[in-house]
Amino acid sequence: MYSSKISGLGMYVPENVVTNDDLSKIMDTNDEWIQERTGIKERRHIKKGDGNSTAIMGVKAAKVALERSKVDKDQIDLIVFATLSPDYYFPGCGVQVQDLLEMPTVPAIDVRNQCSGFVYALSIADQYIKTGMYKNVLVIGSENHSGGLDMTTRGRSVSVIFGDGAGAAVVTRSEDDSVILSTHMHSEGKHAKELAMIGPSTEHWVPQIIEESATATDDDITYYPYMNGQFVFKNAVTRFAEVIMEGLQTNDMTPEDIDMLIPHQANLRIAQFIQKKFKLNNDQVFNNIQKYGNTTAASIPIALTEAWEEGKIKEGDTVVLAAFGSGFTWASAVIKW
Ligand code: UT7
Repeated sequence: MYSSKISGLGMYVPENVVTNDDLSKIMDTNDEWIQERTGIKERRHIKKGDGNSTAIMGVKAAKVALERSKVDKDQIDLIVFATLSPDYYFPGCGVQVQDLLEMPTVPAIDVRNQCSGFVYALSIADQYIKTGMYKNVLVIGSENHSGGLDMTTRGRSVSVIFGDGAGAAVVTRSEDDSVILSTHMHSEGKHAKELAMIGPSTEHWVPQIIEESATATDDDITYYPYMNGQFVFKNAVTRFAEVIMEGLQTNDMTPEDIDMLIPHQANLRIAQFIQKKFKLNNDQVFNNIQKYGNTTAASIPIALTEAWEEGKIKEGDTVVLAAFGSGFTWASAVIKW
């Protein structure tokens, strides 16, 4: 049995900064509400014509991760791409990355696990490397939320939260003490509709959506993301805590062993709740939702990259990743850096 490690990290966010005040000009919201409830000050949105898409942002993040890992793109054995906002209905973004990076005909897996997508994707990479089947896996989380949000007052409880961006990790066979110790994944589909975008889908196909949108009321719009915010919040704080403990217990660790917790950037209040619950100090938790909002599958690799770039993660550190989101799905990873 082999072990895997993260050997390179990269991120990319579009240049276009959208502040809370910018949003208040197009919908009934305000900086105070957004900061108080979520911690978010600004986020990045793709600007029409800036050349970005979910796959393209993923490629930009991947190029940085590849450069830092010193693994050539021709040595990558597998691409795993996590997103809830793919460029096409099908095929997924993974094959676009294979093409855009001019890689050999490597397989590409697309992961549809929303906010838990990156940790799910990391787990897939880890398992393929552990069995010895692959040596180098490119893992990407990328989102173009702004392309599909309801940017009117009707959609304000969701649209102020999400931002665009991408993060990537090169996961390679480890030959030293730096290893992914364990990954943990869960789902609970009975809550699928509490945080979802139902259409377009085979049940709500495009001509039908156009028809529905003409007469849509606040309750029956299915073609924009919907979130039962308070219900999701309550589940998030419970599941985050559970899956972090699961990871720690598997490795005979306690919360004191955490050098850096990278929570999915869903809401600063959730991260603060977890920090308090586990009695972690400010140096043990990394948050950047203030700058980027919730970038779903991209949020953990973006935060991980920034934490690493800022020197907050050092060799030998115990790093814990934890996510919760639509599905519901939740997941964690415990890494010896
Ligand atoms: O990443 C996946 C996981 N996601 C999460 O874990 C997110 C979990 N949920 C949350 O973060 C929070 O529930 C939200 C930030 C989404 C909402 O915060 P909340 O404190 O739960 O607010 P609420 O939805 O209960 O709304 C409170 C009030 C309502 O007005 P009334 O009914 O009290 O008059 C809303 O209409 O705030 C109003 N509101 C807004 N006001 C200004 C909702 N959105 C906005 C807005 N600006 N953008």
